[in-house]
Amino acid sequence: MKKLHYLLLASTCMLCACSSGEKQPESALMKNEARITEIINEMTLEEKVNMLHGKNMFSSAGVERLGIADMEYADGPFGIREEMEPHSWNPLNLATDSATFFPTGSALAATWSTDMAYLYGEGMAKEARRRGKDMILGPAINIQRIPTGGRTYEYFSEDPLLAGALAVGYTKGVQDNGVAVCLKHYALNNQENHRGYVDVQVSPRAMHELYLRPFEDAVRKADAYGVMAAYNKVAGYWCSENYMLQEEILRDMWGFKGMIISDWGGTHSVQAAVNGLEVEMPGSQYLGQALLDSVKAGVISESIIDKRVRNILRVRLAIEPIPASEANKEMASQPEQQQTAYEVAKRSIVLLKNKNQLLPIDLNKSKKIAVIGANAVAKQAQGGVGAGVKALVEITPLEGLLQRIGDKAEVRYAQGYPTYTRMERYRGISPIQEADKELMKEAVALAAESDLVIFVAGNNREIETEGSDRDNIALPMGQAQLAAALKQANPNLVTVLVTGAPIELYPIEPISDAMLVSWFNGSMGGLALADVLLGEVSPSGKLPFTFPITLQDVPAYKLNTYPQQFSEETSDVFVDLVNRQKDRTQRQLLAHYSEGIFVGYRWYDTKQQPVMYPFGHGLSYATFQYEGIQAKVKKNAVEVTFTLTNNGAMQAEEVVQLYASRPESAIERPAQELKAFQRVSLAPGESKQVALTIPRDDFRHWDEAIGGWQVESGKVVLRVGTSSRELSLQTEIQL
Ligand code: BGC
Repeated sequence: MKKLHYLLLASTCMLCACSSGEKQPESALMKNEARITEIINEMTLEEKVNMLHGKNMFSSAGVERLGIADMEYADGPFGIREEMEPHSWNPLNLATDSATFFPTGSALAATWSTDMAYLYGEGMAKEARRRGKDMILGPAINIQRIPTGGRTYEYFSEDPLLAGALAVGYTKGVQDNGVAVCLKHYALNNQENHRGYVDVQVSPRAMHELYLRPFEDAVRKADAYGVMAAYNKVAGYWCSENYMLQEEILRDMWGFKGMIISDWGGTHSVQAAVNGLEVEMPGSQYLGQALLDSVKAGVISESIIDKRVRNILRVRLAIEPIPASEANKEMASQPEQQQTAYEVAKRSIVLLKNKNQLLPIDLNKSKKIAVIGANAVAKQAQGGVGAGVKALVEITPLEGLLQRIGDKAEVRYAQGYPTYTRMERYRGISPIQEADKELMKEAVALAAESDLVIFVAGNNREIETEGSDRDNIALPMGQAQLAAALKQANPNLVTVLVTGAPIELYPIEPISDAMLVSWFNGSMGGLALADVLLGEVSPSGKLPFTFPITLQDVPAYKLNTYPQQFSEETSDVFVDLVNRQKDRTQRQLLAHYSEGIFVGYRWYDTKQQPVMYPFGHGLSYATFQYEGIQAKVKKNAVEVTFTLTNNGAMQAEEVVQLYASRPESAIERPAQELKAFQRVSLAPGESKQVALTIPRDDFRHWDEAIGGWQVESGKVVLRVGTSSRELSLQTEIQL
């Protein structure tokens, strides 16, 4: 064991990461403290408690008498949800509440662009304002621990630095435009099965370094105003009444000054108010009369209530309320936001493979193009329970191709495989099915008489959905069988994967000459895909997660920690409002995160395990040359510079990535970790000097012995390149 050399992070506060000595800027929420004191002094106890729970399904009360407006919430994270009846999930069917459907979480993450995240947040906020909303229930920033996770598509990444940087961009974009974010789901809501009671057991190190990092970044670096407490338990306590998460970490350690609301139906007792929760949503079972009675009986002090009210008022006074008469006057979705959705989508598409430069499509050669697959015509905005978007526009892959190709080639469509429906999901029918013979026959015939086949495969929003995890990550609906038949009929096979999460690609990868991930890509996804396929845009998306070869390769599966086993059953109440289920059994279910800090590529790289496509992978139509790396250790940061040249024939963007390894470290570490990245745009032949900065704090690790951050001194190997497994430049520094 090597001797540990630590550079203490802060002389004053071991728990905070401010090694630079720079003070975190004060939250913008702190401007109205005196006024808030006056307001609280004027309020009755009843008025105060009235603010601490849902008034309607998506609002909580202000104090009309004192001119304090209600808080209006809207689901996000990727489109402002339609207006609903006050006390039900039934839509109001307004004429103006159609929103822009922005690319879902992993699609935004695949841009690796904080600028795109900012624009996205700005677009969401502008639509929220038109709809009269104060707080967007998003971004959703949990770490993608398992590829089967029902909300993996909503979340950003398996990597905390990438997820954190995007959360910061999104949060600033929203809050700079007059709306509050609500970071969700805090914390460790990494699975949907049993989310209402699973109890996550995770090491403090993995918790701080991985799972909390995106939340920490959005709070510290972007002053996030809202946080949503997750459904699950962490270390034995419901998130909504978890003192460690809500008070010790979020408020004391990170300096959060805003408000915490529960996930819908995720409050379990009046203790929530004592332990950090501001608002129970959407009902008032605990933080209503029961809380009032507890205060009157002297069991809970009124000062606790005042503290909660203060945190709400900080947000309320920071966000200009929109009178109900002004909301929903004009259509929520406007061309400017649809353009943002396009800009994000076109940067998100990941070219996984391009054998013999089959892409971009040469329309002089491919005169007859077969587009095959139900996903080519499927709209993906709705579905998956809470995050459905009533989209004003959604251009499907087939529509995009037809619009862009026009009369330059003949484009014909065959469905190929059946659509997995909501009914099938409700009935528990698996999407892993045999190919449909009739649909297959028709598709094969079309493929045989075409010059090129574009097979649009993958999942849909009933397969990847809130409320349940996938049982496996195989290609659904007989797509593997169909692909093999298409390949026999026509060797020129391009596979487009519509998905928000990893899929097992081994049946399809060897027979696809070109393969792309086009995500659940929002209102303009079809146009973005067509532009990439046709070479109007060079693909530049990079995977925000690893495609493992099989599900069994995934650490949580390999270590047998997911799916979990029930240990005992006791009776209690858990009402899952979203699934409209009343599960009157609270089950004892522990999720042991035994892989610790080795999540995603941190596991595969450390175990030197082959993967199908590595984290950060994504090809381009251009070729990029990396040369001349240099690293400088400065007082508060390490700066790495190198030259990037576009040797290709078209304008292209590249996401450069920097990973660090600590070969001589005295502590257990992953083989490498992402430390910086940047999206660079280059004309053909152009070279640019790129500078990547790693703040010194980003070399920290969580030291469980002291319960705080440390930076270990010693050798750091820095590698730069185009994906986590293709890093052509290398240098070393001493910390
Ligand atoms: C989801 C949240 C969502 C809320 C309101 C919950 O079931 O977990 O993400 O914001 O419902 O729709």
